[in-house]
Amino acid sequence: MAQSKQKTDREMLLDILHFAPGKTSAEDLLFNYKDVLYPSTICSKEMFEALETFEARDDDLMIVTYPKCGTNWVIQILHEMVSIIKNQETVLDQPMIEFGSPQMLERLKEQPSPRILSTHLNFQMIPKSFFEKKTQMLIVIRNPKDAAISFFNFYKNMPALPTYESWNLFFNDFIHGNVCYGSYFNYLVEWNNHIDEGNVMAITFEDMKTDFLTQLKKISEFFGLPLTDEQLCEVERRTSFTSMKQKSEDTHGKLGDAFFRKGQIGDWKSLFNEEQSKEVDAKFQQHLDKTKLGDLLNYAKYCKF
Ligand code: A3P
Repeated sequence: MAQSKQKTDREMLLDILHFAPGKTSAEDLLFNYKDVLYPSTICSKEMFEALETFEARDDDLMIVTYPKCGTNWVIQILHEMVSIIKNQETVLDQPMIEFGSPQMLERLKEQPSPRILSTHLNFQMIPKSFFEKKTQMLIVIRNPKDAAISFFNFYKNMPALPTYESWNLFFNDFIHGNVCYGSYFNYLVEWNNHIDEGNVMAITFEDMKTDFLTQLKKISEFFGLPLTDEQLCEVERRTSFTSMKQKSEDTHGKLGDAFFRKGQIGDWKSLFNEEQSKEVDAKFQQHLDKTKLGDLLNYAKYCKF
């Protein structure tokens, strides 16, 4: 009789996100930890406590993002880079260090270096060992209006997250930080205050879209992954939106379309009204204008009607 293949941690986590059995309300699907909401099917207090003693390595490749800013894109980029250098396929593993159970962290201990890790946790929640070990951390940020639209659609298409009846209701929660992983503005402000600590490099979704090869070169240099121009072009080809969307059923199962939706800049103009746009402008002005991360976002170019 054919033996059924044992699922990897990653496949199990994707299943959990896809099925969320019997749960539909925000009360069932979200929980609050230190004043921030998290998806309860996949995150837990137990896991957050276990992460406090997580042992980072100095050669981990760590990706840090607020949701919907291009996490899966950069994860794939690093996998392609490492697999070219090692001349062997790397296996996509646990999507975020905070997902699943503490046993998964035990299994991460056994993974050979370099481990490709990622997290949506805010600065305060990132295990201290990443800073002690001076692990290279790449933070990927995106203009807040497109991030909001992407998040709204993700909520709609993800059974593990509650559904909003309208964009306006989602916007209201987004602007007040009442969504999973909390306020994007707080997230950026906190990181901005610490951007010069540790080995951190920030890049934007928009620069990746408009000048992809330059950003790939920056990423490979930052992580010490030496690649020829030809190899960088190969990474570019394998991680284009079209190519990743085509492979998304293999990489993300039934959730492929939710993770790879449009991959564009400026989709926010389809749903934002003038008042909502001004609310985000005011938040940006108040918290991020003339800051390092604020400047990097090129707000005037990407966030004005
Ligand atoms: P949209 O919803 O605007 O399409 P994350 O991986 O952090 O969840 O981010 C998801 C967003 O990144 C989605 O944005 C998705 O389409 C976009 N994305 C993923 N891979 C991409 C790629 N190769 N090129 C451009 N955008 C990509």
